[in-house]
Amino acid sequence: MTVATPKNSFNVTLQDLIEYPNSGILSKVLLKDNNSQYSLFCLAAGTEIDEHTSTRNAVISVVEGKGNLNLEGKDIALAPGVFVFMPANAPHALQAKENLAFVLILSEYAPKKQKVSQETIDLVKSTAVVLKQHGKTITTRMYEIMFDKYPQVKAQFDMSAQANGTQPAKLANAVYSYAVHIDDLERLKSMVEKIAHRHVKTHVLPEQYPLVGECLLQAIKDVLGDAETEEMMTAWTEAYQVLAEIFIDREQQIYQMAVQ
Ligand code: HEM
Repeated sequence: MTVATPKNSFNVTLQDLIEYPNSGILSKVLLKDNNSQYSLFCLAAGTEIDEHTSTRNAVISVVEGKGNLNLEGKDIALAPGVFVFMPANAPHALQAKENLAFVLILSEYAPKKQKVSQETIDLVKSTAVVLKQHGKTITTRMYEIMFDKYPQVKAQFDMSAQANGTQPAKLANAVYSYAVHIDDLERLKSMVEKIAHRHVKTHVLPEQYPLVGECLLQAIKDVLGDAETEEMMTAWTEAYQVLAEIFIDREQQIYQMAVQ
């Protein structure tokens, strides 16, 4: 059931809408538009929701009752007035200790639409085949250049994942996916989310992006040699900056959430 449409303003007293089932969950959509969905969840005492993730940002605002929310491994006591923000893809589980009612707000985290020229898009997309073939050689070379030139960054990396090739393979896969979907960044959302969280955990900073960019472009040159053209390098320079901005923006949001 949807209580209201976004076309008209409305107000309601949440307590009037609360209805507990004998067991399990009863939910009512209060309002839904293209970006957000507001629902009232009523959980019978004893109801448990196993750990899961959502691809959208979510907020829980407790109206009445008591429960426990485990968010990314941390227990949060739910009680009237408690407000919790859960970023997209954060694992969470919930348990209602009493009849529990809360409003769940789901909102869209949409990466900014960046402007990359059509010429750059075409050139970057045309390198996807080469990246698939030589991606790991390029990223292995990239880390070699970076650790040699900027040895201080080594401390942030799990060097065993370097030695066994896992990290270069992950980076190669990310760069390849970017080349394929540069004209449809929406498709990269869950990848960006996962990497951004990893970056925040390993304290990656905005000012480090140019260093990685420089080493990545140098590695492309080293590996592809004559196959690379000046045009292609210019396109990748522009494309890298756009990707870097997407990560920097998202990581700043995650860092800010952590200090609030
Ligand atoms: C657009 C540029 C970048 C891309 C595409 C990228 C991609 C990735 C990917 C795919 C991962 C693996 C995530 C996972 O484990 O699921 C990762 C992890 C990581 N990245 Fe980046 N990254 C970029 C920029 C940077 C920068 C600027 C730094 C700063 C030094 C950095 C440092 C790290 C670190 C420390 C990890 C964790 C590695 C580990 O656990 O050993 N990355 N990145």
